[in-house]
Amino acid sequence: MHPEYNASLKDYNTFGIDATCKVMHRFSSATDLIAVLKNGEFKSLPRLILGGGSNVLLSGDFEGLVLKNEIKGVELIDTTESEYIVKVGAGENWHQFVLRCIDEGWAGLENLSLIPGNVGASPMQNIGAYGVEIKDRFQELEALNLETLEIETFRADDCAFGYRESIFKRAYKDRYIILSVTFRLLKEPKLNTSYGDIENELERMKVSPSIKSVSDAVIRIRQSKLPNPAELGNAGSFFKNPIVSQKAWSEISVKHPEIPNYPAGTEKVKLAAGWLIEHAGWKGKRMGNCGMHEKQALVLVNYGGATGREIMEHAERVQKSVFEKFGVELEREVNLI
Ligand code: FAD
Ligand code: EPU
Repeated sequence: MHPEYNASLKDYNTFGIDATCKVMHRFSSATDLIAVLKNGEFKSLPRLILGGGSNVLLSGDFEGLVLKNEIKGVELIDTTESEYIVKVGAGENWHQFVLRCIDEGWAGLENLSLIPGNVGASPMQNIGAYGVEIKDRFQELEALNLETLEIETFRADDCAFGYRESIFKRAYKDRYIILSVTFRLLKEPKLNTSYGDIENELERMKVSPSIKSVSDAVIRIRQSKLPNPAELGNAGSFFKNPIVSQKAWSEISVKHPEIPNYPAGTEKVKLAAGWLIEHAGWKGKRMGNCGMHEKQALVLVNYGGATGREIMEHAERVQKSVFEKFGVELEREVNLI
């Protein structure tokens, strides 16, 4: 465990932004982390906690301390009549953990296959895909309070999980470092194949539904439209799907009834941001070094050499034009650093 000064962050953010930080420190236990935080040399520096860097946009060099979470371990800590209780180190790769669950027969996370990043970031925005969010299988997490340096436990009710939201993105932003996440996984799978193309994909694959085949189907669907960050820099959906009131939707739908929309609770409606961006003319359109992806207009890609500033300017152009055309505001999903 030693500090890396003027470290490059290019390989640590999936946008591939070529930025540096003043100093980077990796840690693989809470004890190591506390030692770094107590070190007088680093105390006054701004901090950035980094997992896999797949949901951050670096606006420039980071003049502070990057804490790279490498806490490992997957442990079956308990079983109940219907569930396996599994505690996972925050530095474990998310997709490798999902594959491990499938091998072990621990059900419930298969729809979340192939999401990049680490386990520790999964509660930050309550990651979700294909009809499942981690809150559905979440038991608790442990996090280090950066003010007191005490470890605290948060149950689901404490986390204020919502659509791509949690208390750690809002009121507790930059106040905690998540050390581990514990999941309640099912002994008897309850397969969720209702979302999107999963059923069609299973038919194409000529396989019956199981946690393994659902995971394989999700992987195939994702690979068919989402760019692989190893080939084309991106951070997944750049914006959230906007949620509007029923009243707003009834006004928008007079002019644009064709916008894909889904109920969000009883009184709100979620609109497909990818559709709005595509129909504002941005899909596959390259400007300088970036643009909205040709197969998924919600994904802003770096064709190579884009700066964080260039990406933000492009995102603002897209937001402005969607608002002018449809009267809908797009909110950023990616964390701007
Ligand atoms: P990072 O990018 O490293 O960090 C994200 C934020 O969390 C930062 O603010 C960081 O400071 C903070 N953070 C990270 N670790 C910790 C910690 N241990 N404690 C406290 N704060 C922490 N997301 C979805 O929800 N669904 C998807 O389907 C999806 N698909 C994607 C597809 C692609 C191709 C890509 C590139 C991204 C996708 N994402 C998706 C977004 C991203 O993968 C998730 O948000 C993921 O959880 C980010 O993990 P990370 O470790 O890379 O986090
Ligand atoms: N659409 C278009 N044009 C596009 C893209 C999408 O018209 O270019 C339409 C589709 O035809 C469909 C609708 O928009 O009717 C939804 O598209 P899709 O199923 O591809 O999903 P999404 O809403 O664009 C969300 C998540 C993804 C997640 C998928 C699958 C958000 C912000 N994004 O995308 O999460 O993987 O659903 O569940 O909620 C992420 O958060 O980074 C992410 C990739």
